[in-house]
Amino acid sequence: MPQKIAAGNWKMNGMRASLDEARAVASGAPDGITTVLCPPATLLAAMPEGLAAGGQYCHPAVKGAHTGDISAEMLADAGASHCITGHSERRADHGETDADVRAQTEAAWRGGLIAILCIGETLAEREAGRTLDVLMGQLDGSLPEGAGPANTIIAYEPVWAIGTGKVATPDQVAEVHDALRGRVGPDMSLLYGGSVKAGNAAELFALVNVDGALVGGASLTAADFLPIAEALAAS
Ligand code: 13P
Repeated sequence: MPQKIAAGNWKMNGMRASLDEARAVASGAPDGITTVLCPPATLLAAMPEGLAAGGQYCHPAVKGAHTGDISAEMLADAGASHCITGHSERRADHGETDADVRAQTEAAWRGGLIAILCIGETLAEREAGRTLDVLMGQLDGSLPEGAGPANTIIAYEPVWAIGTGKVATPDQVAEVHDALRGRVGPDMSLLYGGSVKAGNAAELFALVNVDGALVGGASLTAADFLPIAEALAAS
């Protein structure tokens, strides 16, 4: 059975004062699911007990002359158990390719982290009817040999639904997640991400192959994030 996972991606948001929100999430996190917050790396070491913490990116190397970068080993040393790889914002802002994402995912594993590997189509790709081809191509290019439920979580994040308030419809999500299930097997957790809020979470979690969410904006406060985690626990 796939694990149920409520994951929050704080992106480039959060100062030390935001640790109050992380503490509130930790103390309110429901039983029966895994709750993960991925804060900026500056806050990882200060994250509270009672929830899992993750990085948002890792460099493929263990260490070296890579100014501004961070390794999986460093994230683990700071308390991370997870690391997002392949987020569309990194693919866009930093030109990361599927091959880069594969190397980062392998690095995450090497560092003892569970990779949360993100894939997603653009609006133009969806409108051209290419959604499943694009997603399977991303997986072919970025999911390393040896991926399994113990080391990898897949997050389907349609680029057009991220930060736009436009959530994919349950039919759209079901079509993709059913195809992903066929590709990765019965036990790997499949998350949906893209404008998930308390008000739309339950209908997404009711889908048979949706095992949780990767939440951006609504993960920044406990008041927004905990109801999503509770909806998942109740699903
Ligand atoms: P939003 O929930 O803000 O749309 O962000 C989704 C996301 O990109 C999570 O990684």
